[in-house]
Amino acid sequence: MSTITITGGRPLRGVLRVQGAKNSALPLLAAALLPAAGETRLFNCPAIHDVAVCLRMLRRLGCRVGQSQGVVTVDAAGAAGWELAEEDMREMRSSVLFLAPLLARFGEAEITLPGGCELGPRPIDFHLNALRQMGMEWEESHGRLLCRVPRRRLTGCEILLPLPSVGATENVLLAAVTAAGQTVVHNAAREPEIAELARFLNRCGAKIAGAGEGTLYIEGVRALHGESYTVMPDRIAAATYMAAVAVTGGDAVLEDVSVPHIYPTLPAFLQCGCRVNVEDRRLRLTAPARLRPVPYLVTGAFPGFPTDAQPLLMAMAAVAEGTSVFVETVFENRYRHAPELCRLGAGVRVEGRMAVVQGVQTLSGARVRAPDLRGGAALVVAALAAAGQTTVENARYIDRGYEDLAGALAALGAEAARTD
Ligand code: UD1
Repeated sequence: MSTITITGGRPLRGVLRVQGAKNSALPLLAAALLPAAGETRLFNCPAIHDVAVCLRMLRRLGCRVGQSQGVVTVDAAGAAGWELAEEDMREMRSSVLFLAPLLARFGEAEITLPGGCELGPRPIDFHLNALRQMGMEWEESHGRLLCRVPRRRLTGCEILLPLPSVGATENVLLAAVTAAGQTVVHNAAREPEIAELARFLNRCGAKIAGAGEGTLYIEGVRALHGESYTVMPDRIAAATYMAAVAVTGGDAVLEDVSVPHIYPTLPAFLQCGCRVNVEDRRLRLTAPARLRPVPYLVTGAFPGFPTDAQPLLMAMAAVAEGTSVFVETVFENRYRHAPELCRLGAGVRVEGRMAVVQGVQTLSGARVRAPDLRGGAALVVAALAAAGQTTVENARYIDRGYEDLAGALAALGAEAARTD
């Protein structure tokens, strides 16, 4: 079993470069399936498990794929298959982003329901309904969804998403860029990863306007061509390292941070008493000797506080001087880290979508289990503030989104090691 072992108590100091963003790299890799001509080249593509799964999927579909030192190349000219392996679909939710590109290229796709972190029911009804409006038909057979576009080419239309779902917005974008006519998406997600996907697709020849705003306008084009693109910095990885520095009373500089992308998280760090200085793409966080609580933190769609960073702030609240209150509005089951934090001595009480955290002076090391990707990272962060040794089991969840979390923390002076 893979574990991360941490001995807490060392203030983190130094300089760390933040990796490329998982949640941007994945839709960009799905988009790489669209161009029937020309190679897609992604720089700063993180070497994480979810990217490896995406590359395996592309290979299985017939693409030529390369990966070396942060550069990924995809040549989709020879792509021929439209069936996604159950093994790949189960492993990560983003596998559903391949649906639209497959329909656009082949008019067919065979998928199963996607897996990923268990954050409560995460259906794909918004994706399927939007694509149906664009001309897709689907039927379920033996747990597989058989999807096809009888007219072969998807058709642009007006779509209203019930919620600003990130994945559904990305799937509609990927479907609309080569659909016939215009697509308008209302209540689109405004996360920076959406604007990045649109920027990349426009470089490849798409015609998208309004990305990053609530309404997207897409003029379908006949074909896209491959392009080079640099994956944006990972805003959740940045928040992870900020939380790690904060709980240890440290003082460190993060490089390659996109400052506008982390604005929604900054007020919470400031409320906790951290000093944050930003300059270009560098961020310096100086933590106080003892953190203050977060009075009331509500997660929400961008530019709200990101749900992915909620577990990290909870790890900070666990050692703050006072009571913090969290309200999770995006996912139903996003407190699975709470009982594990309690094993380290944290005072967390969860009631429905609300969690109340009574900060304690010190946590104590224990054996805990990562419940999901960000919950696992939160346990590692809490362990940095705990007396003695903590072993976080199920580190494979953490590998889904971090290049080498233990190594990065060790580079900042933590006693952290990864074992398999
Ligand atoms: C993406 C991110 C994830 C982040 C989340 C919210 C990636 C790879 N993952 O996930 O890290 O936590 O956005 O910022 O980018 N929903 C439905 N039906 C659907 C789709 C979504 O009911 O068809 C619901 C979900 O259950 C959830 C909410 O909508 O409650 C938001 O989900 P969504 O924005 O789609 O999240 P993901 O794209 O899966």
